[in-house]
Amino acid sequence: MPKLKLPLPPIPKAFQPTPPRPGESEPVKPLDQLKETGISAADWVDERTALSGGVRWVLFRKVPKGTNWFYTLGSATLFAFLSQAVTGIVLAMYYTPSATGAYESARHITNDVFLGEFVRGMHKWGSSVMVILIFLHMGRTFFFGAYKYPRELNWIIGVVLVVLTFVMALTGYLLPFDQRSYWATIVAGNINGTGPIVGPFLTDALMGGGDFGATTLSRFYAIHMLLIPGAIATMIGAHLYLVTKLGTTAPPWLKPAPDENLSEERV
Ligand code: HEM
Repeated sequence: MPKLKLPLPPIPKAFQPTPPRPGESEPVKPLDQLKETGISAADWVDERTALSGGVRWVLFRKVPKGTNWFYTLGSATLFAFLSQAVTGIVLAMYYTPSATGAYESARHITNDVFLGEFVRGMHKWGSSVMVILIFLHMGRTFFFGAYKYPRELNWIIGVVLVVLTFVMALTGYLLPFDQRSYWATIVAGNINGTGPIVGPFLTDALMGGGDFGATTLSRFYAIHMLLIPGAIATMIGAHLYLVTKLGTTAPPWLKPAPDENLSEERV
């Protein structure tokens, strides 16, 4: 049987090479045309929003001499958070936050849902990765002296981020609702309750009552899904604003270049 050859679909007008203008010999290449289309689209948005100034301010910064791999730990932590957010949203599509349905829905995700075990594994291991990375990043900023003037506020925001990350890990641990998560939550609640003055109130608010009860799971779920991710995202926004505004510190082993305007004499 003769092979039927269908005509190729026409190339969209925007991607067709422009014929040479009078005085030009070569027609514009399709790749250049594509680039120009992208630039015009970006220009269209920029003309209406003036966003490019902000984007340039964030992305095109001078970094100090000696910047090395240790400076990537903050971005790595950011990536871990984003990965947790994406996998968490997928898990939330299948998870049932009720005392009778939670365990079964987690089992269903692992055993029946397409790539469910993979996404659940990524979220579970990702939480440990985020805790490890946040500690390494905190260690980097501490040992490089980046907590000193004028970055004290960024250090404080960082401390809040560590606490929020711990609350994420604690509240997430209960969600599979198996024996281990139940008893781990009882232990954490009891430890929390022994804290001076605020301890019992905190446990009360966290557990939805003095003890583990019917509302504890939904409370942990709301904290894990809405309250803390929102707070972490806001805090990261403030953190990165300050990083962009103040710049990063040079490694401590680099000596500053002598400034001719400064005198050696101390008054
Ligand atoms: C979700 C958690 C966090 C994210 C996403 C994050 C992200 C970042 C990024 C991208 C940078 C710039 C690049 C770098 O130095 O690595 C940075 C810098 C910084 N971070 Fe974080 N960070 C987090 C947690 C923390 C914590 C826990 C602390 C300390 C308690 C902290 C303190 C700082 C300081 C002081 C700087 C400035 C570093 C410098 O000037 O050299 N951050 N952070």
